[in-house]
Amino acid sequence: MSTEYDVEKGDSVHPGKPVIVDRYTAGARVNHWITAVSLVLLALSGLALFHPSLFFLTGLFGGGPLTRVIHPWIGVLLFFSFFGLFLRFWKANLWKREDGTWLARLRDVLTGHEERLPDVGKYNAGQKFVFWSMSALIIVLITTGLIIWDQYFSVFTTIEQKRWAVLIHAIAAVCAISVWIIHVYAAIWVRGTIRAMTRGSVTGGWAWRHHRKWLRELVGKASKGKSTPAE
Ligand code: HEM
Repeated sequence: MSTEYDVEKGDSVHPGKPVIVDRYTAGARVNHWITAVSLVLLALSGLALFHPSLFFLTGLFGGGPLTRVIHPWIGVLLFFSFFGLFLRFWKANLWKREDGTWLARLRDVLTGHEERLPDVGKYNAGQKFVFWSMSALIIVLITTGLIIWDQYFSVFTTIEQKRWAVLIHAIAAVCAISVWIIHVYAAIWVRGTIRAMTRGSVTGGWAWRHHRKWLRELVGKASKGKSTPAE
């Protein structure tokens, strides 16, 4: 990020020369897409085992027994991969005063009246909701998943504990899939967001429109000569 951006006007100081703002490092993007692929595979293999009408999905994983073997291992991969994202992003997802105002004006968010919203930092309250609910749900999924992973842990748990674990595991999985749908919908709905996770950068206009406080901080640091690496 350079000082080539006028944060008051929300535009490049050089007309016709768009400013590109770094948002994610290559490492963060690889980490994100490993997490995304593992959640999709986990959902497909989990749904295949969830109800007989979805059993046909086991065909994607080489049949019923193989799906049963692979599913928990993908869960372990998701857990560690998401843990990587957690370490990278937890600070930027801490709740700030403007997030309460943003949330109270959710109607304006949904009707596209962004001019009525407060300036927000790197993430808005909706993104923070996705982050923290995914964090909690993945902990519930891995804990209950280990309890019902008979191959390795059956001797440590009782049948009663397993019954509860199966129920909680299924409820948490439905919630995680719902949160994932909200996340993907929002990423597509807010135009210009997907490139943040594919190319690692966004346009100055996108940052000014959706995350103005974050942009101001970047411009402030750049004007003091501090480097502003993507995270
Ligand atoms: C497969 C479809 C997915 C797509 C298309 C997608 C897309 C995106 C995009 C575009 C961003 C950047 C948003 C921004 O910088 O404002 C992002 C951020 C992020 N995504 Fe995804 N994502 C997907 C799946 C997932 C999954 C499965 C998880 C977690 C289980 C996840 C966790 C995150 C996190 C933690 C961030 C950083 C935002 C934050 O910390 O609040 N994503 N995603």
